[in-house]
Amino acid sequence: TGSELAQTPPLGWNSWNTFGCDINEKLIRDTADAIVASGMAAAGYEYVNIDDCWAEKERDPVTGTYVAHHERFPSGIKALADYVHAKGLKLGIYTSAGTETCARTMPGSLGHEDLDAQTFADWGVDYLKYDNCNNQGVPAQERYKAMGDALAKTGRPIVYSICEWGENDPWLWGDSVGGDLWRTTGDITDSWSSVMSLLDQQVGLEAYSGPSAWNDPDMLEVGNPGLTQGESRAHMSLWALLNAPLIAGNDVRSMPAWARNQLTDPDVLAVNQDWSGRQGAKLRDDGDSEVWTKRMSDGSVAVVLLNRASAPATIGTTATELGLPRAATGYRVRDLWTDTTAASGGRVRAQVPGHGAVMLRVSAGGTAGLPPMVAVDVTPA
Ligand code: DGJ
Repeated sequence: TGSELAQTPPLGWNSWNTFGCDINEKLIRDTADAIVASGMAAAGYEYVNIDDCWAEKERDPVTGTYVAHHERFPSGIKALADYVHAKGLKLGIYTSAGTETCARTMPGSLGHEDLDAQTFADWGVDYLKYDNCNNQGVPAQERYKAMGDALAKTGRPIVYSICEWGENDPWLWGDSVGGDLWRTTGDITDSWSSVMSLLDQQVGLEAYSGPSAWNDPDMLEVGNPGLTQGESRAHMSLWALLNAPLIAGNDVRSMPAWARNQLTDPDVLAVNQDWSGRQGAKLRDDGDSEVWTKRMSDGSVAVVLLNRASAPATIGTTATELGLPRAATGYRVRDLWTDTTAASGGRVRAQVPGHGAVMLRVSAGGTAGLPPMVAVDVTPA
């Protein structure tokens, strides 16, 4: 909420995918430290988001406000927000538009929206993820509007993440109730089949996204054990192209260099953060071989060549198919993961590893001095 917020897809981290309910204030502080030390902050990652299970089961008996969990968050959320702010980062929190959260370890905000939004604002919270569990059958638009209005009333800029799992087509109304992003699907897991299934559910939603109104295909599993490096790269490439909020879901305190590099690649993040009028979308579907594209503000086209099969495949497209203008001098093709650039007469083709992707940026002209494009060298999964 607040029109100046989330003009580009939010970048951050969330505790759920790796830690579930096993969270505490030290984990959040150490994660904030690691976001700075790893270079993620410099790359643009800003939000440090606490998910489910941060509060006591009962509200304060006198004031009715949330109480941070006494053992796991003994210093309270305000102190944590102060710590995170001192690092130049922002703090996110979570609750549900229901009577309890999904884990049922803490109350939800249904019927307490004004008090809870004000509590979050008083604590210095910058982002709210608002889940859908235990909603008592109250219509979604009503529940999510109540919190959107409550957040607006606080006067504090708080990014509003609608986590309604795509059940009631939130892309049609999420913006009007103050949402800055909305989940389009159920939960991601760290498996190739999950990533591919969520991807398939994004087809057709590209018309509904834009500044402060992002489709959210769920948080990242980059660097988590169920994905190979190649699968993880494909996941990151596609989420970037879809203008998805990029909310890391791995343990950034101990991640290997490859995961850090995938999360922070400047060329890939630049594709995600560029608002050119439409998020990326599927251009061609040849079964296991797919071509996804996004028109960039500078007229170039970002391309993800996706291989869903387990064997390597050659996947290609052409400058014409990408909608690029005719260019007598040819096309400049940059591989965003290997940082190699080549010239092409119009054919854009790469060897793509099984369960993998190649991500390119193709522009008309600018080819002087470039070597001709050969099948792009890709790191095997
Ligand atoms: C369901 C949401 O979709 C997840 O992202 C996570 O927030 C869990 N609930 C927490 O219980």
